[in-house]
Amino acid sequence: MTTDKIDLMTKIVSLAKRRGFVFQSSEIYGGLKSSYDYGPLGVELKRNIANQWWRSMVYERDNIVGLDASIIMHPKVWQTSGHLANFSDPLVDCLNCKERFRADKAPKRTPGEKIEYRKGGQKKGELIQGTVPEKGYLCPQCGSCELSTERQFRLMFQTNLGPVDPISEFLEKNYNQGLSKEDFSKKLSEAIEKSAVYLRPETAQAMFVQFQNIAQTTSMKIPFGIAQIGKSFRNEIIVEHFIFRSCEFEQMEMEFFYEPGTEDQWLDYWTNERLSWYRRFANNKDNFRLRPHDKDELAHYSSACYDIEYLYPWGFDELEGIASRTDYDLKKHSEASGVKLSYFDQQKTDPTTGKPGYRFVPYVIEPAAGLTRSLLCFLLDAYEEEKGVDAKGESKERVVLKLHPLLAPYKAAILPLVKKDGQPELGQAIAQEFRKKGMNVHFDDNQSIGKRYAKHDEIGTPYCLTIDQQSLVDQTITIRDRDTTVQERVSIDQAVEIVQRRLSL
Ligand code: GAP
Repeated sequence: MTTDKIDLMTKIVSLAKRRGFVFQSSEIYGGLKSSYDYGPLGVELKRNIANQWWRSMVYERDNIVGLDASIIMHPKVWQTSGHLANFSDPLVDCLNCKERFRADKAPKRTPGEKIEYRKGGQKKGELIQGTVPEKGYLCPQCGSCELSTERQFRLMFQTNLGPVDPISEFLEKNYNQGLSKEDFSKKLSEAIEKSAVYLRPETAQAMFVQFQNIAQTTSMKIPFGIAQIGKSFRNEIIVEHFIFRSCEFEQMEMEFFYEPGTEDQWLDYWTNERLSWYRRFANNKDNFRLRPHDKDELAHYSSACYDIEYLYPWGFDELEGIASRTDYDLKKHSEASGVKLSYFDQQKTDPTTGKPGYRFVPYVIEPAAGLTRSLLCFLLDAYEEEKGVDAKGESKERVVLKLHPLLAPYKAAILPLVKKDGQPELGQAIAQEFRKKGMNVHFDDNQSIGKRYAKHDEIGTPYCLTIDQQSLVDQTITIRDRDTTVQERVSIDQAVEIVQRRLSL
């Protein structure tokens, strides 16, 4: 990463905290690694992103409906989906500097290549000669080839359901009973597994296991989709880049069920839909791109996949995955539960028998987006530093968050110039008119007007409405545009309508 780019990330993290978008969780106790809290502005921005996703996926279509499922599901869901066996990352320990890292994320090197690294990873440590091992990577921290073997680390958080602590119960029965270390460990794992449940690592599975209930209660015809927004949890080996990769995060996923044989058409359709969705809200549209997965990158359930990538300060990286999941999940859940998860089309002829009526297990395209990751992208995309001149003609710099108005936490700021002469009262009355229309506005009469403009530029408020002496005489106010800083005088009567029209609300 260049210094500029590191700077940008540092500036975003700092702005996020200073202005109340994102705080470190439990900060007064020193914070908890990878846990974040969304403050007053962050919660609005996150909600606005989620609302726009829901609008485009559900409200603007007549064949997609919503679901809000439990985070803790029956453990068989995860056994059947393959997550219990496969949802893990390869973990490696560096025996030289003690760094713990993901083997699949370590930069690739040529096996057999001669290398040098410092003992203990210390800057002035003894220089050691080595060779890149067969696996083709070194410690990403110190460049050493002294590495542990890869072990699979399960990413799902496990807990136990019920009032009995399985560990205490097990110890009561088995402590000092002469079990070998291996037997003790095996039996303990079995005792824990009995009541084990998992925090969901993706929202997707609930949409498969509720397929039949939703198909029956809505009578929807294929193709149709089920959408869900909610928390997911992964015990990530590496948490990185602020909220980009955290252990608790939010996803916006949709499972789109369709007739087998049309997978290319639907994969194409959804990749374009989703890419256009991001670009609609972005300033730098080329920073969003599509990347097809190589065969060896595909998840166990997926036959083809595209990532929508964003150009983060560290380079292009994943923002959303759009996977062709075939009939993998419905078939697996059908076999494991004994419940037929299929669809019957009376109008169609069965292609194998040639008889009227066609029963099939639908295929699935899944656009899986990260809500909290999208929030990071939109902050990065919106951040600008601009040089300009102030009212006195002196040069000054401003930070402006050019968030799309539909995403901006506040739609307008209502700013009395002074805290007297009836200006605050008039401002409150104007703010109330906006609130009646369901618009989130901020009445703000602290600090100088210049500082208030600067603050609202920095948090992305599209319009600042200023009440001055003239307002009480002729019922007009000024409207200042965040992006151009141009101000114009308008009638108070028309303020709500003007802002609504300009924001296309
Ligand atoms: N159901 C498929 C699925 O969950 P994924 O690619 O693992 O696919 C989808 O996740 C999206 O969820 C990612 O593209 C990313 O935006 C977000 N995501 C995944 N892991 C995350 C994490 N640890 N922190 C923040 N966002 C994450």
